[in-house]
Amino acid sequence: MKSGHSLRQLLLGWLLPPLVLLLVAGAITAYQITLSAATQAYDRALLDGALALAKQIRVENGQTVLDLPLIAQQVLLTDKYDHIYYLVQGSHGEFIAGHRGLPLPEEKPLEENRIYYDGFFHGEKVRIAALFIPSETGQVHVLMGETLVKRNKLIWEILLGMLAPQVLLVAATIGLVWFGVKRGLAPIERLRNEIAARSQHDLRPVQGEQAPTEVQPMVEALNTLLEKLGTVMGAQQRFISDAAHQLRTPLAALQAQVDLALHQKNDGDLRLTLQHLFAATERTVHLANQLLTLARAEPAGHLPGEMQPVDLSQIAQECAEEWVPRALVKNIDLGFELEPARIIGIPLLIRELLANLLDNAIRYTPVGGNITVRTIAQAHASVLEVEDNGPGIPTSDTDAVFERFYRIKGSPGDGCGLGLAIVREIARTHSALAESKIPPTGQGTLMRAIFPVLPDSLPDTPT
Ligand SMILES: Nc1ncnc2c1ncn2[C@@H]1O[C@H](COP(=O)(O)OP(=O)(O)OP(=O)(O)O)[C@@H](O)[C@H]1O
Ligand SMILES: [Mg+2]
Repeated sequence: MKSGHSLRQLLLGWLLPPLVLLLVAGAITAYQITLSAATQAYDRALLDGALALAKQIRVENGQTVLDLPLIAQQVLLTDKYDHIYYLVQGSHGEFIAGHRGLPLPEEKPLEENRIYYDGFFHGEKVRIAALFIPSETGQVHVLMGETLVKRNKLIWEILLGMLAPQVLLVAATIGLVWFGVKRGLAPIERLRNEIAARSQHDLRPVQGEQAPTEVQPMVEALNTLLEKLGTVMGAQQRFISDAAHQLRTPLAALQAQVDLALHQKNDGDLRLTLQHLFAATERTVHLANQLLTLARAEPAGHLPGEMQPVDLSQIAQECAEEWVPRALVKNIDLGFELEPARIIGIPLLIRELLANLLDNAIRYTPVGGNITVRTIAQAHASVLEVEDNGPGIPTSDTDAVFERFYRIKGSPGDGCGLGLAIVREIARTHSALAESKIPPTGQGTLMRAIFPVLPDSLPDTPT
C-alpha cells in the first residue's frame, strides 16, 4: 500500500539540491580566492630569489658571469617542498648559468622588468619569475622557477578548512530532516494507533487535539464521517429493532391461524379461518412493506448523487392512473390541480410520499368525499398538497401522526401507523417540510410537503 512520496524524501528533495549547489559554488569561489592569494604570496618569494641572483651578476672582460658562492647557491636553491630551478641567459640567448631548458617567457613585461608565468620543466608544472636586467652587454634574463607542491598544499589546506564545516552543515540538515520528520509525525502515528485499535462499533470522535494544526482538518473530517456513520448505523439499528418488535406479533398470529386451519375438519370453519389468514397475511405484508419503505426513506440511506431534477406535477400525473380507480371504489372524487413545480429529488421516494398521502386520504375520507392533489410553484418553494374533506386530524395530533406507529384512536382500517412517518423521512431526505393543516374550508385534512425550489442553473431533465 506504499505509494506517493515520503515526507522525508520530499523535504530532502527540496533542501539538498540548493544546499549542494551552494556548497559547490562556495568551493569554487573559495578555490579561486585561495589560489590567487597563494600565488601572489609565493610569486613574491620567487621574485626575491631572482633579485638575489641578479645581484651576483658581473661583467668580467666583456663577459657576463654569475658569481654565486656555493653557500649562497645552497640557500637559494634549497626548499622543504619544491624543486627550485634557475637560469641566467645573456641578451643573445647565450647560456650563462643555471638549469638549461627552463622555459623562457613568451612575452616581455610591459612596464616593469619582471613577469610571472607557468611552464613545464622535467615533466613537472613549474611557476617562474623572470627578471630583465639591463647590462653593459645588453639585457640579461634571470629566471627563478619552482614546482607547485607547497602552493597546492596551501590551497588544499585552506579549502578543506572552509569546506569541512559546510559539508558538516549538509550532513546536519539531512539528520535534522530525518529525525525532525519522525518527531513531527509521532502524533499522527499515535492517532493511527488509536484508530487501528478501535472496534467497528466504536464511533466516538477521534481525539485529535494533540495532532499538529495541519492535521486538525483531517481529524475533523474523519469525525464528521464517523458521526454520519453513527447516524446510518443508528437508523439501521432502529429498523432492525422496529422490524423485530412489530413483526413478531403478526407472524405469531399467522402461525396460530395456520395451526388452527390444519386442525379444522369442517369446510365452512376452514374457509372462515383461511379468510382471516388471508387478511392477516395482507396486513403483515403491508407492515413489512411499510417498514422497508421507512428504512429506505431515511436521509442516511441516500447518496447525494441519487438526486435529480424532478417535476412534482409530472409525478402526480403518473400516480393518477393508479389512484383514480381506487378512489372510484369509494365513490370519491379525486381531482388534480397541477402546475409545473420543479425540485431536486429521488423520483421513487416522491412517488412513495404521494402514495402514502393518497392512501390516507382515500382510506379515511368517507364514501362520496372529495380529494384534491395540488402542485404549486412558489418563489422559493415547490409545494405538493393532498386535501380531503374527511374527518380531519385533531389539532392535538397534527404532530403526533408523523411519529412511527402512531395511529389516532378509533381510526378505521388496519394501518400500521407508518405512512406519515415515511412521508416525514422522505421530506427530510429532500430538506423539505411535511405538515398537516386544516383546509381553508375548515373541514378535512390538508397534507402538505414544501420542497426547496430547484435552482434555475441546474439542467432541466424531468423524469
Ligand atoms: N387524511 C387523513 N384524514 C384523517 N386522518 C388521517 C389522515 N391521514 C392520517 N390520518 C391519521 O393519522 C394516523 C397516522 O397515519 P399514517 O399514515 O402514519 O398511519 P396509518 O395510515 O394508520 O398506517 P399506514 O399508513 O402505515 O398503513 C392515521 O392512523 C390516521 O388516524
Ligand atoms: Mg397511512
